[in-house]
Amino acid sequence: MRILGIETSCDETGVAIYDDEKGLLAHQLYSQVAVHADYGGVVPELASRDHVKKTIPLIKATLEEAGLTPEDLDGVAYTAGPGLVGALLVGATIGRSLAYAWNVPAVAVHHMEGHLLAPMLEDNPPPFPFIALLVSGGHTLLVEVKGIGEYQILGESIDDAAGEAFDKTAKLMGLDYPGGPLLSKLAEKGDSSRFTFPRPMTTVPGLDMSFSGLKTFTANTIAANDNDDQTRADIARAFEDAVVDTLLIKVKRALKQTGMKRIVIAGGVSANRFLRLKLEALAASIGGEVYYPRTEFCTDNGAMIAYAGMQRLKNGEHNDLGVKAFPRWPIDQLKPVEG
Ligand code: KG4
Ligand code: ZN
Repeated sequence: MRILGIETSCDETGVAIYDDEKGLLAHQLYSQVAVHADYGGVVPELASRDHVKKTIPLIKATLEEAGLTPEDLDGVAYTAGPGLVGALLVGATIGRSLAYAWNVPAVAVHHMEGHLLAPMLEDNPPPFPFIALLVSGGHTLLVEVKGIGEYQILGESIDDAAGEAFDKTAKLMGLDYPGGPLLSKLAEKGDSSRFTFPRPMTTVPGLDMSFSGLKTFTANTIAANDNDDQTRADIARAFEDAVVDTLLIKVKRALKQTGMKRIVIAGGVSANRFLRLKLEALAASIGGEVYYPRTEFCTDNGAMIAYAGMQRLKNGEHNDLGVKAFPRWPIDQLKPVEG
């Protein structure tokens, strides 16, 4: 069986074709970064308009890359949420309409389930059960995963997502959008011992997180110090240390609470080298393992949507003729996929 996956929930148009026997056959990605760069963040209306322009050409390119025609497809998966409603509607309308025209089922996919399952596209996929740390621009979630669709949220950010905190702090430091990777690059030259930022909500019990205070702390630190290159790098280092350390403390707690040793990290921030290294060290210290997607599948992409859609299609799940777009959609509302 082969499925086409379409991702348009934010500022990336991603399209892929997944075959349940041969794996990923083709994937194409178009990033809107240049469209939004002048504004320092995603402009929802511009995002929707750009998806309108790019989605169909990208679907054609993906079919061509795979050497397939629409008749070779058994379904169409599209991201139905969570995300920007206008952006979601573009992919959902195109996905649903193509499925109708091609006379195959349409599957409405949960974007964060896509991220969570992205490591399954790698050679050494994580066996169930595991703890998933989902860290993207829109969400920060700690999830106990027993199987596909068997998700229990253990903790989440009560304000900014980790990626959002990276981006907002980078903006404060005058870095371009999206600032997460740039801030992380700057931090490489920083001295960890110069500034110490708080580790929010780590002194209270529980697995919820909060990252919005760190931007204020950064703003105050910038204001109280010189603006030379080394100071900027030192501030970036202190910020990254604080976010990574906070995530680490919460993951450690989640492992202890559940008795698990397997960790999956996914979502844009899972591309962060420092976070990976720290989690690997944590796993090694308890005889556990860490799994994450290849870097290009950490951020938004069509491959993860095609994969997640295939699992649900094989489970007999597909949608009626309605175009589904859910800007808010808690991941623990998904149905389990029978093993
Ligand atoms: O998963 P994603 O592509 O989009 C959402 O679903 O939100 O995540 C994008 C986020 C952005 O906030 C970006 O700054 C962050 O992931 N990000 C990083 C790194 N690479 C991407 N944050 C920190 N370090 C990185 N290396
Ligand atoms: Zn995402």
